[in-house]
Amino acid sequence: MFGMWEGKRLNAHPKSLDFVVGLFLSQGTVMSKPKILVQLDADQQCSVFDSVVAVDADVQQLFRHSKVEADQVQGLVHGCMFTRGPKDLHNTAIFIGGSNVAAGEVILETVKNCFFGPMRVSVMLDANGANTTAAAAVLAAARHLDLSRSKFLVLAGTGPVGQRVARLLAGRGADIALASRSYQRAEVACDQIRKRHSEAVLTPVATDGPAMILDVLSGVDAVISAGAAGIELLSEETRVAAETVKVAIDLNAVPPYGLPGIEVMDQATEKQGQICYGAIGVGGTKMKIHKAAVRKLFDQNDLVLDAEQIFELGESLENST
Ligand SMILES: NC(=O)c1ccc[n+]([C@@H]2O[C@H](COP(=O)([O-])OP(=O)(O)OC[C@H]3O[C@@H](n4cnc5c(N)ncnc54)[C@H](OP(=O)(O)O)[C@@H]3O)[C@@H](O)[C@H]2O)c1
Repeated sequence: MFGMWEGKRLNAHPKSLDFVVGLFLSQGTVMSKPKILVQLDADQQCSVFDSVVAVDADVQQLFRHSKVEADQVQGLVHGCMFTRGPKDLHNTAIFIGGSNVAAGEVILETVKNCFFGPMRVSVMLDANGANTTAAAAVLAAARHLDLSRSKFLVLAGTGPVGQRVARLLAGRGADIALASRSYQRAEVACDQIRKRHSEAVLTPVATDGPAMILDVLSGVDAVISAGAAGIELLSEETRVAAETVKVAIDLNAVPPYGLPGIEVMDQATEKQGQICYGAIGVGGTKMKIHKAAVRKLFDQNDLVLDAEQIFELGESLENST
């Protein structure tokens, strides 16, 4: 209907106001394409969380695809690449979500391999919120410490969030002890990070439960706890006894918390000489970064927003407030 109305106006006399208005609409408002976000999710059901954030980030049309497997990705991506001219491709973007981070990583690589020349759209990976959560945790620490001169203990550094926390810290020159219940798993996670950051100072550490020996915390400036939901990783007694620890961040929002004594809402709360953040205390920053990253996807058609790019965006948000 709008198109017919626009056509009538374009048929108007060249000097008439109708003509001018019609021309303006045809080149401006009417012709600008709606912002489409194509959600690719390996889960049975697409993440409602990711969809709500997309709408709150001004996405106008959301195409939600669940149970996505790598061999279906090309067709879905071609649908993004070949429907709009190069100058309009920045109005289509892809968001890879879902709970399975490993599956999300495979989807991201497959998506990137579909692009060529200018035929591409921007894409963001945030499966299970791993990238935005890790970025928010590292930004919280950076408010209080010079990352390049600090030693971190990343508890449960083998999980998707913990690995990204350690990866981002490595990129900023921090000294990192990456902990797991298994020394071997910690070693594998360190090796993965070294592939990106060959100069990284990483030490794999095996922990033996909440009452771990104080030695593990020797010289540590900050502890970031990224264990599975509802798992306590370090006793309050041991954490508080660690004299060098200035910042303690727990990402587990489900009691019992990873770092007992830190409440889920704590946000730069000082307790026994340590600056403490709980999962929701970090979550506010995570949400800001998530929304800003979705908005940024539509600035241009060639962005790939993975952990590092999302962290840099978070840094720019911190610097602008
Ligand atoms: N605030 C937010 O917005 C937000 C968003 C996303 C995630 N999160 C939270 O961030 C945390 C990390 O997420 P994730 O997806 O990386 O976690 P995950 O994969 O479920 O678990 C991370 C690590 O926890 C360790 N772990 C698992 N079960 C354990 C047990 N019974 N005892 C001791 N350690 C155990 C494992 O390390 P090892 O086997 O190597 O010891 C595992 O690699 C979770 O608590 C999650 O809920 C928060």
